[in-house]
Amino acid sequence: MNREDFPMLKQDIIYFDNGATTLKPLILSQITSEYYNEYSANAHRGDYDISLKVDEMYESARKKVQKLIHAASQDEIIFTSGATDALNKIIFGYFRHYLNQGDEILITKSEHASNVLPWFELSDELGLVIRYIELDDDKKVTMASVQKAITPKTKVISLAHITNVVGDIRPIQEINQLAHQKGILVVVDGAQSVPHMKIDVQELDIDFLAFSAHKMYGPTGVGVLYGKKELLNQIHPIEFGGGMNASFSSDGMRIYDELPHLLEPGTPNIAGVIGFGQVLTYLEQIGMDQIRIYEQDLHEYAIKALRKVPNIVLYNEHSESGIIAMNIQDVFAQDLAIYLNKYKICVRAGNHCAKILKDELGIKNTCRISLAMYNTKEEIDYLVKILSNPKLKEEII
Ligand code: ALA
Repeated sequence: MNREDFPMLKQDIIYFDNGATTLKPLILSQITSEYYNEYSANAHRGDYDISLKVDEMYESARKKVQKLIHAASQDEIIFTSGATDALNKIIFGYFRHYLNQGDEILITKSEHASNVLPWFELSDELGLVIRYIELDDDKKVTMASVQKAITPKTKVISLAHITNVVGDIRPIQEINQLAHQKGILVVVDGAQSVPHMKIDVQELDIDFLAFSAHKMYGPTGVGVLYGKKELLNQIHPIEFGGGMNASFSSDGMRIYDELPHLLEPGTPNIAGVIGFGQVLTYLEQIGMDQIRIYEQDLHEYAIKALRKVPNIVLYNEHSESGIIAMNIQDVFAQDLAIYLNKYKICVRAGNHCAKILKDELGIKNTCRISLAMYNTKEEIDYLVKILSNPKLKEEII
């Protein structure tokens, strides 16, 4: 889909590392150069024309994010530097003040570092207990396993909507329903889901959501923190400075701004946010539902084709997203990635920042193929051909 919009695809590469970051459509660099060359003033500070244009473009990007995830208010959209930053703000800005010693946090062993390490830190600070929801044989979360993991002390469930190695789609709506009945809040790491499917935070009843622009054809250095207004109203800023205060004086008195500016101190990534807004208009024209249908078809095709590769080990054949974790028997994942690079095929190898998943998979490193809307069946056929080379192991060694 839309391959002609991505200048990097004119290079002779097959890019299957979209879970790490996606390629960018030309319109992104066009709009950011327009900002830098034609109206590069600061945001929310000036009273002259170009600065007012910046404000308009910046705030219109916020409205586009609101529309993308169907948030009730644009004040529920906070721009951050990425999903990691958003999760840290949620965990240290909200939960540091909400949780008490002995409270339990439920996560899983397939979470990305950014949904594990902040909880470890907060847990050391407050004396919290981190518990893991059991995964089934396909490394998926089931409602039965969530139900089983909940205790009277559970206060938060913090999960990726789609995990970045196993690629399973969690039943977020049902988890929210169950959690809310029991007074438990749910944090959703949407880094791998928001780019690939329609997300309606009101329909799914999401409390907090974090995602990054760069994994959805947007710029690096921009992310989104969504929170229900009643929750965000209780969040404490974890960074302080200009752009988030209304007034302060020498005796220490300070009055902070309202949301969303309260959580966006300092000069933001203006070019990035404006660029992200443009990318969201582009994605709206394509349709997130169309993207999901296309990628689902491609994923099914890829799984069927990869099954035929000699000595392949597929770790997540039954996952529903475009993420495929695999190895070739007796070949180190990184060696395979380097071999594929000879054929200009880009995949990621390693533990993919999900470092406790090895306890579940029984293996530390995998090669990951993560699909995006511009990948094609022809690219998959080529990958399968290269992987099926009868001399593959000899050539790697
Ligand atoms: N979180 C990104 C990935 O999974 C970087 O590759």
